[in-house]
Amino acid sequence: MKPISVILSALTLSMASSAVMADSVRLPHATSLPNVSPANSNLANRGAYIARTADCMACHREDYSGGVAIETPIGNIYSTNITPSTRYGIGNYTETDFKKALKKGRAPTHQLYPAMPYPSYHGINDADISALFAYFQTVPPVEAAPEKTTHLPFPLNIRTLMLAWNVINVPSTENRSGLTQTQQRGEYLVNNLEHCGTCHTPRNLTQGLDKDKYLSGAPLGKWYAPNITPDNDSGIGRWSEQDIVTYLRTGMLDKRVYAGGPMAEAVAHSTRYLTDGDLSAMAAYLKVVPIIKTDNHVIPVDTSRLPSPVSRSITYNLIEQKDYLAQVKSTTNTDSNNDRNSSKALYLAACASCHGVDGYAQPDARYPSIVGLSSIRRAKPDALINVIAYGAKGALNTVPKMPGFEKELSHAQIAGIANYVRVNFGGLPSSDVSAADVKRILK
Ligand code: HEC
Ligand code: HEC
Ligand code: HEC
Repeated sequence: MKPISVILSALTLSMASSAVMADSVRLPHATSLPNVSPANSNLANRGAYIARTADCMACHREDYSGGVAIETPIGNIYSTNITPSTRYGIGNYTETDFKKALKKGRAPTHQLYPAMPYPSYHGINDADISALFAYFQTVPPVEAAPEKTTHLPFPLNIRTLMLAWNVINVPSTENRSGLTQTQQRGEYLVNNLEHCGTCHTPRNLTQGLDKDKYLSGAPLGKWYAPNITPDNDSGIGRWSEQDIVTYLRTGMLDKRVYAGGPMAEAVAHSTRYLTDGDLSAMAAYLKVVPIIKTDNHVIPVDTSRLPSPVSRSITYNLIEQKDYLAQVKSTTNTDSNNDRNSSKALYLAACASCHGVDGYAQPDARYPSIVGLSSIRRAKPDALINVIAYGAKGALNTVPKMPGFEKELSHAQIAGIANYVRVNFGGLPSSDVSAADVKRILK
């Protein structure tokens, strides 16, 4: 059985925030919450913030009208309308009903599937539940059923089966002892509200979260949620707390990481709205979770091997960049007997118009630099191969999209580009991804 892959469907964002993409190292402040209004009570406005920390929008859509497919090994499970519509939504819920749905996965008339992350929300405290409930009363009702609803075959359609699953997989709320107050707040955010583990913790045989592999990385459809325990090689042990805060605020760290997949959505809908205090608390907690070493380590960046930008003016000036690309293309020998030249020619043809001849891209056009990224420096090239094959839809970067090259490029060509990128922009001494590796990864 494959672990549950919670793939959040393409939610187009209308709230492009230039602060997030500003190409400066200064840390932007929390983006102001679009769902807070002075007309609402303080309790409801606090609930609006908690809804962000719990990322309800990721699965229920921005207007909470539902209908988003959550892919699981047993089939697609669709989220429901959670606006206060009495006919289509949760308008008839009492606060107790709401609490039971969130914490126990029990809706008034039926048992929910754990695609709704109640095993994580189980630990949400009563004050936060009350605030969330108050907030959901202020959401504009959507008077329509979601376009798609869940239809699982027998016996999976017997929702009461989940009761047995819950006994095994819904943890009793246990908090680590010996944590500072800040770390405790971080623990609550990471485990319960933000439910980071639903993506970053591998699943056990029954599809519950495998506690012994807490936050050590898990496959997620065509992506992989990396190890975020403080292991120095395979996890984020080398990141400072400030690095973690900056990443959760902006989705990127210059020449190190760029969130282009499901994490970009978590940042776009949720973490970028959090207060500095809450982000710091999560960072402080992530520094003290048990270290787990996994085999997909990040090859440390040797900064001296990273390329220098061909020229600042070329990187920033689109016309100059276009001319420069044409010039380099015309002088690159595409003789296929020479592997290095043919993969350079492929990179120039397929990638350079967006990521630049030098990998530094076109910040003006909001294409990201790929120089030094951890995704191209992993021992396993899977993340890079997947991005080349399937593209990146860009929840943070709302304008351009990266196309997938699955159909255009052969496995050998994808391998060639991956090797070229890993060595020339990742600074690796060598890279030997083969066509067979690409075939295995994309199967
Ligand atoms: C990872 C995806 C995900 C997230 C995040 C999520 N939900 Fe859900 N939720 C679902 C799915 C899927 C269902 C439907 C489950 C089913 O049909 O068994 C659901 C069902 C519900 C229901 C039951 C509604 C009904 O009567 O059918 C409520 C209430 C609810 N969610 C509220 C919330 C709130 C509030 C949040 C944020 C605190 C939230 N959800 C976050 C996926 C999610
Ligand atoms: C919807 C699934 C999902 C959720 C929820 C999620 N992540 Fe991620 N995360 C990913 C994926 C996938 C990546 C890989 C990059 C990407 O998708 O853009 C990632 C990347 C990261 C990275 C970068 C690690 C590296 O070495 O490159 C960190 C740090 C991180 N996540 C922390 C968190 C924290 C903290 C939370 C909770 C606040 C969280 N994530 C919630 C899926 C998720
Ligand atoms: C049409 C423009 C375009 C082309 C062509 C393109 N990309 Fe991208 N690429 C993007 C954008 C935009 C993003 C960022 C997506 C986002 O913000 O979520 C990106 C992201 C990336 C990332 C970072 C993703 C991560 O999670 O680390 C890598 C690596 C990458 N591209 C490599 C390539 C390679 C290699 C090629 C050629 C095979 C290529 N790109 C072709 C636009 C492009």
